[in-house]
Amino acid sequence: MSELALQKEDRVLVLGGTGFIGKRLVKKLVEDNIRLRLLVRTPSRASELIPGGADAEILQGDLTDPHSLEKALEGIHSAYYLVHSMGGSSLLKNTEFAEKDKAAANNFISVADKAGLKRVIYLGGLGEKGEGLSEHLLSRAEVGSILSSGKAAATILRAAVIIGAGGASYEMLRYLVERLPVMTCPKWINTRIQPIAVNDVISYLAGCLKNPETAGQTLDIGGPEIMTYKTMMQGYAEARGLAKRIIIDLPFITPALSAYWVDLVTPIPSGIAHPLIEGMKNEVICRDNRINEFVPIKRTSFREAVEAAFAEEKSGPGVTGF
Ligand SMILES: NC(=O)c1ccc[n+]([C@@H]2O[C@H](COP(=O)([O-])OP(=O)(O)OC[C@H]3O[C@@H](n4cnc5c(N)ncnc54)[C@H](OP(=O)(O)O)[C@@H]3O)[C@@H](O)[C@H]2O)c1
Repeated sequence: MSELALQKEDRVLVLGGTGFIGKRLVKKLVEDNIRLRLLVRTPSRASELIPGGADAEILQGDLTDPHSLEKALEGIHSAYYLVHSMGGSSLLKNTEFAEKDKAAANNFISVADKAGLKRVIYLGGLGEKGEGLSEHLLSRAEVGSILSSGKAAATILRAAVIIGAGGASYEMLRYLVERLPVMTCPKWINTRIQPIAVNDVISYLAGCLKNPETAGQTLDIGGPEIMTYKTMMQGYAEARGLAKRIIIDLPFITPALSAYWVDLVTPIPSGIAHPLIEGMKNEVICRDNRINEFVPIKRTSFREAVEAAFAEEKSGPGVTGF
């Protein structure tokens, strides 16, 4: 039996368990009876994720603190890496997140190598490397390369916008379309994109842990439709039963200007919104669909994904976090 195959007694570490993706993945792994450990900065935010009777340990720590990582990685078979450092509300360009994310990934790998970690599963961003890739997408790719450089076999999943209540990109889309019946948009409105439902992302992440053949692979994940930001906005309005949105292309609007305009219309912190908007110039579609051989699932349509997100938002306050 390959040492990469997870056994019943093995424990799995989740980093970023309090995040949009992490908290949903924790729920799924608990349902799958996986023994868990979460390393979180605020344990009170994690304890509510763990139902009574689940075998899940919560440790307080931070990726910037190698000592807390040593404790977190002790005796761990596989780890999920679902962390980024974008955030804050400064209107000045956020220049620090890439350095922080690079340092965090390097800390993780140096401790993981000593601890004998077998696998790491990371969710990063789609987008082709090379000139013109935004700082955010470059940084996501850099973290993937660092995680692949360690002794643990890395599975790198790459996704575009994830459709689900509380996801930063999805909430930006939701506020813009809900609040603005008429929009003027820059060139990025015609960039091609392949959004994916959050539940499908969770199925792929959980499925990769179960299938050791995904170890060492970089796999693109996306929904069944390729759209543009414009058709995605129209599709959101349609799924929500809103009047058709009038979207006027104004190619001379710069991404920086559109970022300030998003600050006015949506509550998404500028430290996240600005790097995401800069990335909208980059086409983010799947180039390789092998994930469907490794983890076959029935993919959710964009419309069903929006309906599910809306149902979740209606089901209680505080889901979105914004
Ligand atoms: N959302 C999307 O549409 C999307 C699309 C494609 C790919 N992805 C990828 O999915 C992954 C997860 O993103 P997300 O949307 O779930 O982000 P998120 O909701 O902002 O969550 C980020 C998580 O990282 C944790 N974190 C940040 N810095 C940390 C540190 N120094 N030490 C320990 N934990 C730290 C946060 O903890 P706190 O709760 O303490 O802040 C939080 O749990 C990222 O790699 C992202 O690139 C997301």
